[in-house]
Amino acid sequence: MDTSRIQHYLESRSTTGKYDPAKKITAETISELVRLATYSPSAFNLQNWKFVAVHSEEQKSNLCQAAYGQQQVKDASVTYIVCGDLEGYKTLGDALQPSVSEGIITEEIKATWVDMVTESHQDNSELRRDEAIRSASLASMSLMFAADEQGLSTGVVGGFDTEAVQSAFNLPSSILPVMLVTVGYPAEGNWPQKMRKPLQEVLEII
Ligand SMILES: Cc1cc2nc3c(=O)[nH]c(=O)nc-3n(C[C@H](O)[C@H](O)[C@H](O)COP(=O)(O)O)c2cc1C
Repeated sequence: MDTSRIQHYLESRSTTGKYDPAKKITAETISELVRLATYSPSAFNLQNWKFVAVHSEEQKSNLCQAAYGQQQVKDASVTYIVCGDLEGYKTLGDALQPSVSEGIITEEIKATWVDMVTESHQDNSELRRDEAIRSASLASMSLMFAADEQGLSTGVVGGFDTEAVQSAFNLPSSILPVMLVTVGYPAEGNWPQKMRKPLQEVLEII
């Protein structure tokens, strides 16, 4: 059967936990993966994400320490700290302006969305956090798709000390590190994709 690239990626992808530290990717590729990740959807087109691409050996060592010594963070060619902006709602107007200029949405729609997001987010820290995590998660998955397209392997690391990451990388308290995404070339000894639960256990069609 002919399978699409996306189907093939999803059915065969796996987390890379062991990287070849000698193999490097270029600064151009590091940027390109984030450029592609920013095409991910976000509520109101908030684009409430930030990416810190940790590339130097010194900074990867710092990040590895904040990730409880998980070696893949250091051995990957680059490890992205994918963050959500807890105050993204404050800059929605700026984020939407280019879409107004291009005639994709009207000034009125922009104003309505800014009012809606301000009303719903300004006094609701739980929603701000949810929104930050939703956007950063979608962007992370997109980044992994983009990396695969370039023949690169990836992994997600959620095991890190949030405050240690914020402090080591001078992130303001409004910038929430959501997950680390490691990208590079695999070494020997990675697990294949692990088995999934049966579909009927996770899917309800009503
Ligand atoms: C949110 C999240 C956090 C994760 N954190 C870690 C981690 O800290 N360390 C690690 O080795 N793997 C981590 N993983 C990888 C998972 O263990 C892995 O995705 C899962 O076992 C399924 O394996 P597969 O991706 O190879 O199919 C994380 C994955 C996700 C999505």
